[in-house]
Amino acid sequence: MTLILAIESSCDETAAAVVEDGRRVLSNIIASQIDIHRLYGGVVPELASRHHLQAITPVTEAAIQEAGITLAQADAIAVTAGPGLAGPLLVGVSYSKALAFALDKPLIAVHHWQAHIAAINLVCKIKPPYLALVASGSHSGLIVVQKDSYELAGQSLDDAAGEAFDKIARALGLPYPGGPEIEKAARNGKRDFCAFPRASLENPCDFSFSGLKSAVLNELNRRQMQGESLTEQLVSDIAASAQEAICDVLSARAVATACRLKLNTLVLAGGVAANGRLRELVGERARQAGLTALNPPPAYCTDNAAMVGAAAYPLWLKGCFAADTLNAQPRLPF
Ligand code: KG4
Ligand code: ZN
Repeated sequence: MTLILAIESSCDETAAAVVEDGRRVLSNIIASQIDIHRLYGGVVPELASRHHLQAITPVTEAAIQEAGITLAQADAIAVTAGPGLAGPLLVGVSYSKALAFALDKPLIAVHHWQAHIAAINLVCKIKPPYLALVASGSHSGLIVVQKDSYELAGQSLDDAAGEAFDKIARALGLPYPGGPEIEKAARNGKRDFCAFPRASLENPCDFSFSGLKSAVLNELNRRQMQGESLTEQLVSDIAASAQEAICDVLSARAVATACRLKLNTLVLAGGVAANGRLRELVGERARQAGLTALNPPPAYCTDNAAMVGAAAYPLWLKGCFAADTLNAQPRLPF
């Protein structure tokens, strides 16, 4: 039995978890900074770093306590090394390095995308190869997961899917983070209210969402210039149409890519994978194409440390430990 104490601080959640054998979550504690950043309409990196500093010790202590273990019983410390915001990453990396050194435990450095993908291991047994759609606030990509490697099949050429949700929400006067707010507003809206664009690109596995964002802004400006006010119904209709455009593109390209690459299983990951309409569309299209679509529960889609513990376990088995010179890597390549 291997117990990994995992730490995540790449953006605006300070999180710690204890995970047994990469699957069984003994604790999963998250201190969210959403209320702080909401005042500014998005994450303020300097504020995020300061709040990570304040939260990281109590969050780690709570994770250890809830798991019913002592720090000494953890076999290794795992941490998100990148990509992410430099200051926030540095807090988690420095803290984990200090902890590993003081406890004389191995340190495992985890890539944030790989952690999002590994979240699926917390809820089911899945064997590579499979295709993962990672859609979060900072990245959107299609990744072929093999037993010992990952291959990037395509990615967003501009805004990430979550970033598009957040920016469109802001234009609609909805608070940060925009994804859940758009999903809520969209429940009362018409998906076909506006025919927002779906960018077609040279590589059919790539995405682009900046044109959609501009189209939403243009639609709002046009209506405003005609004297129309932004009613709750208009917000809902535009939210539903924009959500449909994002989810349509993500689901269609993910399913088409899995079929083209002859991969039978499609895994959803990242904060945007918490979106009910995306899960529904992926489920429908995967079924039509004869694929199995798997998604972790929403709590394991958005940033958390349990997924870091899941991603660290295969690295533990292989003895892939980080040097004590490990640094935060905001642009860590995939
Ligand atoms: O993976 P995540 O927690 O953090 C990053 O790695 O970026 O993803 C956060 C992103 C935000 O852009 C947020 O608006 C989006 O995920 N998100 C959603 C939903 N929940 C979170 N987007 C659409 N629908 C949701 N229900
Ligand atoms: Zn994330």
